[in-house]
Amino acid sequence: LDIDSSFSTVPKVSCSPHFTLDSSFTTRLKSNICIKKKFHRDLPPTTVYAFGRTKETATIPGPTIEALYRVDTHVTWQNYLPPNHILPWDPTIPTAMTNETRGIPTVVHLHGGIHEPESDGNANAWFTAKFNEKGPTWTKKTYHYPNNQQPGNLWYHDHVMGLTRVNLLAGLLGAYIIRHPAIEDPLGLPRGDEFDRPLIVFDRNFRTDGSIFVNSTGNNPSIHPQWQPEYFGDVIIVNGKAWARLTVRRRKYRFRIINASNARFFRFFFTNGLTFTQVASDSAYIENPVTANDTLVGPSEITDIIVDFSQSRTNVAILANDAPYPYPSGNPVNDANGKVIKFSILPYLEPDTSRVPERLLEYPVSDLSSVARTRYISMYEYVSDIGEPTHLYLNGKPFEAAVTETPKVGSTEVWYVINLTKDNHPLHIHLGLLKVLDQTELVNWDEFKNCMTKVNDAVKCHVDQYARGKKVEVLAHEKGWKNVYKMIPGYVTKIAVRFSYIHTNTSYEFDATAEPGYLYHCHTLEHEDNAMMRPLKIIK
Ligand code: C2O
Ligand code: CU
Repeated sequence: LDIDSSFSTVPKVSCSPHFTLDSSFTTRLKSNICIKKKFHRDLPPTTVYAFGRTKETATIPGPTIEALYRVDTHVTWQNYLPPNHILPWDPTIPTAMTNETRGIPTVVHLHGGIHEPESDGNANAWFTAKFNEKGPTWTKKTYHYPNNQQPGNLWYHDHVMGLTRVNLLAGLLGAYIIRHPAIEDPLGLPRGDEFDRPLIVFDRNFRTDGSIFVNSTGNNPSIHPQWQPEYFGDVIIVNGKAWARLTVRRRKYRFRIINASNARFFRFFFTNGLTFTQVASDSAYIENPVTANDTLVGPSEITDIIVDFSQSRTNVAILANDAPYPYPSGNPVNDANGKVIKFSILPYLEPDTSRVPERLLEYPVSDLSSVARTRYISMYEYVSDIGEPTHLYLNGKPFEAAVTETPKVGSTEVWYVINLTKDNHPLHIHLGLLKVLDQTELVNWDEFKNCMTKVNDAVKCHVDQYARGKKVEVLAHEKGWKNVYKMIPGYVTKIAVRFSYIHTNTSYEFDATAEPGYLYHCHTLEHEDNAMMRPLKIIK
């Protein structure tokens, strides 16, 4: 592709139909095969998997679902996928698809949602077309999202055991926004479809015939014929357009940027020096807006920013990326994957009445005096004889091993997450809301890692004696409530996790202790699939 002239025109970056759910709402969303998706002017159409009400209206990303605070959403996620996957997958990692499965299994998780476990999209609650086959933890067809939580940015995506990475690469993802007009409207932030938009960003590779390119040979082919430790593509797609271009006006815009890549971190910045103001991240607003030149967003993280194009010194502003891949010590970006979206800036003749207030929303402080329990979660990578990664685990345990994390409903816990690998892993916790407290380097790394490899017990290996190196300051925009955070290699990250609502004046209750429970995992999808994921069981 001719990259320099390849920014494609996106009249409305928001390519998806919006469903505004203003009364209790029920919908059926199909996962369809959509053969007409054109990612770029110069690229033939690509076969993808998409969400939509009908085959004709299915899109990638899927339709943006806009929910209202405390207005229930009921979605019957359906599966219309054909029997053979369009992308190569690997039967040797724990996966829902086996030689016996006749259809392609899918299941949808609402990422950031606080809802009952039966509607959480457990990796083993999958189903194939027409619900013909069902996974062992499948319980119901219609999922219930009460939206009884702080307003913020969520997204929905496939979560099936061992195929999440390929089902997302194929297109099964979309944005979900919870709005709370009574407390959000007075903030005065940019509003409406034109000035408040989700931007869903991911990377892909294509063959010249337009098909999505995924390696079909693994890095350890004798062990895992297909699995690779990370997927990276050179083409950056925003709302379904490669190297998208958007015409904007000289005024403020709100962009809710979702990193929906499998493994790519983005560090976003404007090439013309334009700054932006961060107002929210994943799950929740931050309390005070933070103005920045750049922001690092790991897989599944969300940054919600206000960009004031009236401050741009040029009439073109390119949102770029300079995060190495894998992050932090991999390849530098190139001409292709360093470009995200190009804004062409036109005058705005009306007054811009939107503003960024000094204070956004306030949340309860995390009271650490009532911490119910402390846990140590360690991240391991295992390598083969040829020095290549074969799989990754949390706490040295496969996904199938009996549940070990059993927080009490409504409690707050402190987790020390110990990253024993060389990559940064975005750790995501279902149901929980987390606050990052600090990140501390482990000294005498080899000694500590040796002990952990043998003993697999952070307390017995005296983690507190090793956790006394450099401290990395938690940046102001990341001090709020989140549902995923970047675990620095060779560091211990201390987080407070709350297994309950932020709002306590709730009238809606659900049984968080029901089956099949929740999950926590690395959101680098190749890691999650193989098998940096563990069950999470909430108890009474
Ligand atoms: Cu975004 Cu468990 O997932
Ligand atoms: Cu990971």
